[in-house]
Amino acid sequence: MKVLVTRDIPEQALEIVAKNAEMEVWREARPIPRETLLERVVDKIGLLCMLTDRIDDAVLEQGKNLRVVSQMAVGYDNIDVAACTRHGVPVGNTPGVLTETTADTAFALLLATARRMCESEQFLRAGEWKMWDPMLLLGQDVHHATIGIIGMGRIGYEMARRAYGFQMRILYTGRRPNEEAEQHFEAERVDMATLLKASDFISIHTPLNPQTRHLFGAEQFAQMKPTAMLVNTARGAVVDQKALYTALKEGVIGGAGLDVFEQEPLPMDDPLLTLPNVVLVPHIGSASIATRTRMAVLAAENLVAGIQGKPLLHQVSPA
Ligand code: DGY
Repeated sequence: MKVLVTRDIPEQALEIVAKNAEMEVWREARPIPRETLLERVVDKIGLLCMLTDRIDDAVLEQGKNLRVVSQMAVGYDNIDVAACTRHGVPVGNTPGVLTETTADTAFALLLATARRMCESEQFLRAGEWKMWDPMLLLGQDVHHATIGIIGMGRIGYEMARRAYGFQMRILYTGRRPNEEAEQHFEAERVDMATLLKASDFISIHTPLNPQTRHLFGAEQFAQMKPTAMLVNTARGAVVDQKALYTALKEGVIGGAGLDVFEQEPLPMDDPLLTLPNVVLVPHIGSASIATRTRMAVLAAENLVAGIQGKPLLHQVSPA
């Protein structure tokens, strides 16, 4: 009953795993190297993995005894779910427990971008603040502005709740109507072109898949207001990052608040780092102590269910 946990995670979760299996943990403060993962999965029946681990055919070929792949994240674009299914391995994830924390991060990014918080802080720390100035660091109002939410799922819904509190007009796109959001927050489901044109802020809450890869590119930015700001706490590749850089640099749009990137960690020579009108944080959407603990515990529970041949609490692969 050996299992592999690919990062050091909150103790409460490790205790659950250790009670139910012989546990091996990759404890280094960096993702488990691919080669090491391939070696160590060989004798394991369970794998508790992170979004930084690529789980594909090669891993499943090596891990012939795997009974479950349990991801400590809601997003699972790093996992080839079809391959897992072919190998008869169910895949679990951790939805629900991180919803509000991620929406908090998205709203924090929206506010920080709109009101130029990071630029202002750097200005002050650099000793450039000489006097109160009526024209200093003017930003955009958030209250009463229009927000466009891409994807009215759990996190999009919580974003709408926050926006409603700021008396914002809420537009959204989604595969199906969200009646609760429409009733509770007066959200209006519109087509993408309407949302792009009318929104002062756009916040992305859609998973990454072949349909959403580069959903935002030069064509979409060109339809947005020149003052509009884009917030992304979903997955970096939903946005064409090169096109975003150009749009920000050339004033096609006003700003961006980004938690996720096409390449993570963001390389230090990435041109986005040269722009003042973008707030950049290192994929911390769900990074509160309580939420990361809840995610780890849920991932541990999924793992234990899987190794015991029971239904997972949250399964993304077909039953
Ligand atoms: C997720 O869960 O998918 C986030 O990106 C990490 O919290």
